[in-house]
Amino acid sequence: MNASGINRAFSIDDLRERARRRLPRGVFDLYEGGAEDELTLRENRAAFERIRLRPRVLRDVSSVDTTTTVLGTPLALPLLIGPTGAVGFGWPHGEVALARAAQQFGVPFVLSTSATSSIERIAQAVPGHRLWFQAYILKDTDFTLRLIERARLAGYEALMVTVDLPVGGKRERDMRNDFSVPFRWTARNVAGFARKPAWALAQLLAGQPVLENLVGLEAPKTSTSGLVSSVGRRYDASFDFEALARIRDAWGGKLVVKGVVRDDDTERLVRLGCDAVVVSNHGGRQLDGGIATLDALPEVLEAAAGRIEVLVDGGVRRGVDIVKALALGAKAVLVGRATLYGVCAAGLPGACRALDILADELNRSMRLCGARQIAEITPDLIVAAAPGSAA
Ligand SMILES: Cc1cc2nc3c(=O)[nH]c(=O)nc-3n(C[C@H](O)[C@H](O)[C@H](O)COP(=O)(O)O)c2cc1C
Repeated sequence: MNASGINRAFSIDDLRERARRRLPRGVFDLYEGGAEDELTLRENRAAFERIRLRPRVLRDVSSVDTTTTVLGTPLALPLLIGPTGAVGFGWPHGEVALARAAQQFGVPFVLSTSATSSIERIAQAVPGHRLWFQAYILKDTDFTLRLIERARLAGYEALMVTVDLPVGGKRERDMRNDFSVPFRWTARNVAGFARKPAWALAQLLAGQPVLENLVGLEAPKTSTSGLVSSVGRRYDASFDFEALARIRDAWGGKLVVKGVVRDDDTERLVRLGCDAVVVSNHGGRQLDGGIATLDALPEVLEAAAGRIEVLVDGGVRRGVDIVKALALGAKAVLVGRATLYGVCAAGLPGACRALDILADELNRSMRLCGARQIAEITPDLIVAAAPGSAA
């Protein structure tokens, strides 16, 4: 697809539809799906949709400034591209495209442990750009520590430890689709791949993606019934606050913890010395029935009490969603599927289109709310829940 073609996508949902048409079912579902009945996945979106705004008028919004800071350094938009594993199954080395798009838009890129592009490959692709490394805590502690050391040597500015995945969530779409890494050449998969020739050709030319950061790690022993369950077996389910303190000491730099939804956990993380938390439920891919992230945000903010930064992710599909999250008190949002849809639809131009859409919608929503700068996105923009309503 050429760049003008992708510019005919006007919303993240348009990009999602293009990704759906280009990808085999198993790959699309890998990105799209959540755990079990996908209650939390839907709830993340529903929480955004429940919020109503009280726009200010007559505020001279002829120019608007979307810049902000996170961890003390500037961002062009209050947004980061969050960590998503296995992007290469949708677009060869899709993480490189995501990192380049992040660079073009002046926002950090968070590289997943489970990426199909290595720590070093990404650092070389966007020299000097702000990169964060997302660590999963593997059973093989030495391997985890080596990953963290590699991230430091490659110049990553922050370490994001994801803590909502002691075991893999039960993602039934992957099981039904026979989706695993490496691909299983079942009749269903081969038939699905054959129906998507543009995707199949790109994969054939690039070779089957590899989780490059995990090369050398011993494969899980049991046979796989899906990517998630197989990857989940690598994680250290005994990981706790004390072990996190050891990771903090080994890293020594900015530490962000992702996957927090409770006040007591936030308090302990503040005391542990972390610099920011991400209110996240892994995009509804882990505990099904877990609280929507936007609903958990006030509790975490109250516990953080301004001592650390609070970011949020889950369900951001519109620029106005960013206004809502910031009005509730988040410092910035992370996007997962929004940019994934873009990169899977059209590689780098698709990833850029996703950011372009979100940036344009954010800019427009800020003007329509009478907010000329990020600091003017304040709680009074939000309609308070009516007493007795299910807020
Ligand atoms: C396909 C996919 C892969 C993901 N892989 C990771 C990962 O490797 N590490 C991680 O911390 N979170 C991962 N996540 C969760 C995202 O970082 C983020 O929390 C979530 O996608 C936010 O919800 P959204 O997709 O609605 O924006 C993944 C999410 C998706 C959709």
